[in-house]
Amino acid sequence: MRIAISTGGGDAPGLNAVIRAAVLSAINRGWEVLGVRRGFAGLLGEDEVVPLTKESVRGIAHMGGTILRTTNRGNPFHYPVKRADGTYSEIDRSDELIENARRFGIDALISIGGDGSLEIAQRLCDKGMRIVGVPKTIDNDVSGTITTFGFDTAVNTALEAIDKLHTTAESHSRVIVMEVMGRHAGFIALHSGLAGTADVILIPEIPYDIEKVCEKVMARDRAGRHFSIVVCAEGAFPKGGEISTMGLSLPGQAHRVGGICDSIARQIGDITGKETRSLVLGHLQRGGQPTGYDRLLATRFGGAAVRGIELEKWAHMVALQSPHVVYVPLVEALREPKRVDPDHDVVRTARETGISFGD
Ligand code: F6P
Repeated sequence: MRIAISTGGGDAPGLNAVIRAAVLSAINRGWEVLGVRRGFAGLLGEDEVVPLTKESVRGIAHMGGTILRTTNRGNPFHYPVKRADGTYSEIDRSDELIENARRFGIDALISIGGDGSLEIAQRLCDKGMRIVGVPKTIDNDVSGTITTFGFDTAVNTALEAIDKLHTTAESHSRVIVMEVMGRHAGFIALHSGLAGTADVILIPEIPYDIEKVCEKVMARDRAGRHFSIVVCAEGAFPKGGEISTMGLSLPGQAHRVGGICDSIARQIGDITGKETRSLVLGHLQRGGQPTGYDRLLATRFGGAAVRGIELEKWAHMVALQSPHVVYVPLVEALREPKRVDPDHDVVRTARETGISFGD
């Protein structure tokens, strides 16, 4: 048996722990393991396919990033090709990828990725490839699993920042708006904001009214709390307004979401007269050592992916449905992205403890 592993999409703390667990579980069964470098690029002749041994995964479980590298470009079904005039067109290279996998003698593939990579995996399975998926994203926006690895680490990074912002905001009687990642899901903002006792949390699932945000800030001011912390998800948007995006999106790459915190801070300053500052936490949330929770989840997912191959769970992904790791059909997981339920107890508790969602 010869299996391959690839990591695609944005990186997330815990990827190396999945790789390590999968490689060791496979080798201990007497299987051979190959690593496809940089998403699917290694299977398209754009990068390498390398052997993975016990030696290659020694001492990597605690490391952020991915030893296989990754990319959020290069969907084989919509592969970007640069024309002579600098513009791009797209071609379908999926058959070439499948043929290359066959030439490498790959019997099955573990594809570790977010919704984009899992959808590619699903489409490759439709064409006959044997793939087990492993959901990965700091955004926690994949359905069918209670959580994805990387999310807990990102929340802890945001939490540490909120703790630090509290002291400086209080010293200067300022309002500080911190923007966290999550694309169209507000989980990182909600969880870090509640755990970090933010005063306002803005998420895409609950469009905000800036006047309501300012009411909360001024109510605190009147109560002698002259500072406020606003945690906003990068995908948050005002009622009747639009999501904020940055820069041009390249072919084969999703639109970059974010940049909202600056305008929120400016508006709060204009309306309340208070001094404001803003901060985009950015890719710090994707880096660093995975937390114990993420390391354990990632390791469980890596082991389960190899068992999934043994069980021939093609076109399934491993998923946490506590207390068990189970296998969920990719079509089911991809049907709808996971979003914050505004009636969830986490939101209710936030509201009941005085946090405003600006609605
Ligand atoms: O999906 C993970 C994520 O970190 C999002 O939260 C964020 O919007 C996006 O990736 C950033 O992508 P990039 O690394 O391409 O800037």
